[in-house]
Amino acid sequence: MKFNIKSDSIHDISADIIILAVDDKNQIILKSKLSVASNAFLSNIINTNDLKSEVGASLVVHGDKTFKRVMLVRTGSLKLFNAEALIKITNIFSNVISKLNIKKVLLPIEQFFNEHISAHAGTEFIVRELINASYIINSLKTTKAPTVSIQTLLQYEGSAIKEVKLGLTHGSAVAEGANLTKDLGNLPPNICTPTYLATVAKDIAKQYGMKTKIFDKKQIEQLRMGSFLSVAKGSREAPKFITIEHSLGLKKQKPIVLVGKGITFDAGGISIKPSSDMDEMKYDMGGAASVLGVMKTIGALKLPINVVALIPSCENLPDGLALKPGDIVTSMSGQTIEVLNTDAEGRLILCDALTYAERYNPELVIDVATLTGACVIALGHHATAIFSNHDPLADELKAASNISLDKAWHMPLWEEYQPQLNSNFADMANIGGRPAGSITAACFLARFAKKYHWAHLDIAGTAWKSGKDKGSTGRPVPMISQFLINRSELKK
Ligand code: BES
Ligand code: MN
Ligand code: ZN
Repeated sequence: MKFNIKSDSIHDISADIIILAVDDKNQIILKSKLSVASNAFLSNIINTNDLKSEVGASLVVHGDKTFKRVMLVRTGSLKLFNAEALIKITNIFSNVISKLNIKKVLLPIEQFFNEHISAHAGTEFIVRELINASYIINSLKTTKAPTVSIQTLLQYEGSAIKEVKLGLTHGSAVAEGANLTKDLGNLPPNICTPTYLATVAKDIAKQYGMKTKIFDKKQIEQLRMGSFLSVAKGSREAPKFITIEHSLGLKKQKPIVLVGKGITFDAGGISIKPSSDMDEMKYDMGGAASVLGVMKTIGALKLPINVVALIPSCENLPDGLALKPGDIVTSMSGQTIEVLNTDAEGRLILCDALTYAERYNPELVIDVATLTGACVIALGHHATAIFSNHDPLADELKAASNISLDKAWHMPLWEEYQPQLNSNFADMANIGGRPAGSITAACFLARFAKKYHWAHLDIAGTAWKSGKDKGSTGRPVPMISQFLINRSELKK
């Protein structure tokens, strides 16, 4: 997908198709920019009522002398036309276009800007959604889907050209980051192993001038990450602890540390999961994949901010040597953990990464994890759960989520829940019983994040879709990227 910004007037740009929005009153929004002849030609068509009235309805017609083809697309009432509606109709017209044999699309973007949608945000959402909608699963089918390479001409004659350019830059960086996240999630677990994730980290670091260090099993032992390693014991796949450092911020600026859960397959271990849908546990590295996606985004943007990515990665499998229910392990922090359920493994690998994060004297730490089925019960598949030991940080993430339309919801992390983790034999148990399962998982992590401001994002419901549209969503790359963009602008 290629984009160019064009500031010529509509009639002076040649393309295979032009996209024109029509409101609920049958008015072409850009009618003042069209010739008398084009207006007459198009209003005749609209008056036939072939263009349905629902938002996103579209109609492709062969053009008059000036346009080869015109796609009319319904915005509905302009008072209600907001960024969510813009994303929805962008998705629809993108799908229609991809089925036509077309190379060049003329998209006047000003028609989508209004008091709810700024030039920056509007351009960003359009670009993000066009890239998102054109994503093809890099499948291992032998017959490949044909790749269509479309050039989109973003036509804009107004005065906010700087904002439009910034929207294009941000939108494509965020979407390309999210596409990497999707690619990694969708890969099968026999390919996307901890070693594979380490290779991807090295590639990103090389491409964008970041530093990377990959710790192998021996080095992880030297770090005394006993909790992380206890999970890896049941697998013959080598565990990796992956670190990437992006340091384009000021030298003395404390880094923001992102921690991603990188379980490349979660069978549950000895507390084995039921077999139905177990394949979906290849997505249990969704946190790691989104942290890598965000690193790609901020690398492409050369974002002037210090960010460190930490990814503990291994498989969780049953084996003769695997971790057992009842085992007590010692974390890097020194705290002991009684493992009552080996399927609550995410927290066991994350806690050591959270302790390791202390070495950076971080400004704040955000971990991202497909952590609990209970989170899906609480919020379904629409919102990522935000937990934090610092309310202003949760508010800041929520604000970034609102701006990027990557939904999230602030959940409680009250002390009252902590006793559910009591153990008679160790400092804590790794599970807290059925009530409030996503909260007690966060409570567990909080015990390892006491030395800094920290937020935990549970993406169990949002990282991938099941059913016939099974596939990774690339979330929450938009939210975290927006958070970092906001932060880098504050620091200017
Ligand atoms: N990776 C799973 C969480 C998960 C399950 C995410 C289903 C998305 C869909 C995690 O490792 C896990 O198994 N959690 C357990 C915790 C329980 C044993 C306390 C769960 O949620 O069942
Ligand atoms: Mn599990
Ligand atoms: Zn898991």
